[in-house]
Amino acid sequence: MLKVIKKTALLVAALTVSAMVSAQPVKIGVVAEFSGPFADYGTQIHNGMKTYLKMNGDTFGGRKIEIITRDTTGPAPEVAKRLAQELITRDNVDILAGFGLTPNALAVAPIDAEAKKPMVIMNAATSVITTRSPYIVRVSHTLPQDTQPIAQWAWKNGIKRAYTLVSDYGPGVDAEGAFIKAFKAAGGQVIDSVRTPLQNPDFAPFLQRIKDSKPEAVFVFLPPGSQTIAFIKGYEERGLKQAGIKLIATGDLTDDGVLQAMGDPTIGLITSFHYSAAHDSPENKAFIKAYAEVNGTKYRPNFMACAGYDGMAAIAEALKKTNGSVDPDKFLAALKGMKLMSPRGPIMIDPETRDIVQTVYIRRVEKVDGQLYNVEFDKFPDVKDPGK
Ligand code: PHB
Repeated sequence: MLKVIKKTALLVAALTVSAMVSAQPVKIGVVAEFSGPFADYGTQIHNGMKTYLKMNGDTFGGRKIEIITRDTTGPAPEVAKRLAQELITRDNVDILAGFGLTPNALAVAPIDAEAKKPMVIMNAATSVITTRSPYIVRVSHTLPQDTQPIAQWAWKNGIKRAYTLVSDYGPGVDAEGAFIKAFKAAGGQVIDSVRTPLQNPDFAPFLQRIKDSKPEAVFVFLPPGSQTIAFIKGYEERGLKQAGIKLIATGDLTDDGVLQAMGDPTIGLITSFHYSAAHDSPENKAFIKAYAEVNGTKYRPNFMACAGYDGMAAIAEALKKTNGSVDPDKFLAALKGMKLMSPRGPIMIDPETRDIVQTVYIRRVEKVDGQLYNVEFDKFPDVKDPGK
């Protein structure tokens, strides 16, 4: 009899402990850029995550979401590594997320592989990142994925000789390689390629060289912010446009977050990208409305905000499937092959690569109701990362 009572007491205790564990919040450690020249990256990602929680509640699979943000201050791999380590060992986070810049994501990947934490990349777009830990899932984009369509589009639209200019680090190198490959395969010729520093580049000498070699177009990848603004200014001032040299790029160049600041010189620019604030769908309209309600109107939601929203959606859906478990293998199994209707259109997590499959749109900068927007006019559905 005593034995039975003891057993029952033990069972009740065990059940209580497991109920307490599952009732604890799921902690998401967001490592991103919240200060310095790339401060908008972390802000947009976090704003997007908050928007999802506002629209859908904050409890999934019985677990409440708790977000802890940490600032890398810019491209700072050592800082990102330390922050991720502290989040795992001191704050006991269940999931890592964020990562605007590639160097920060790459620095954290080995720590993540060792700690076995689901890690949701909400921007960093160098192709190789997802191969560096089996627990990484990317909900944003890759540069080869966004670049290939504009290379093909350029050839189809009569551009035969191009020059490339990219930022000299992971995503730039990926964009350069993808453009050269796709443009050459279509029949085009890349006459030369330059890479500019990630921090504080001076574009003047590069623009002069490009002007002197008279290509029909220059293909550009630069991380959005002060340098995309400076580049557009230089392209105008140094007379490349007047010389008839067309500018083509991935949508990083005409990012919704900085487009207004770049002003009218952007009108008519053609880019390829996975998200535009002007995307015409009920999901995007609801997202834009809720984003402003949660975060105010200082920022227009951009592709990083959209990925923050989708990353939060993927985490929420995975928690529902696992009934609140964050066991890394169960959680990854729930994420692999997941399909979501994003503000950008339909997306899927490729079960083999854990990278995103999505539509890439061709867009033109136009004024809509007095504001500059990337207006989509063509699309390439179900694009996988061609970089793998
Ligand atoms: C990156 O660092 O991977 C990165 C940053 C900004 C972009 C795209 C990629 O627009």
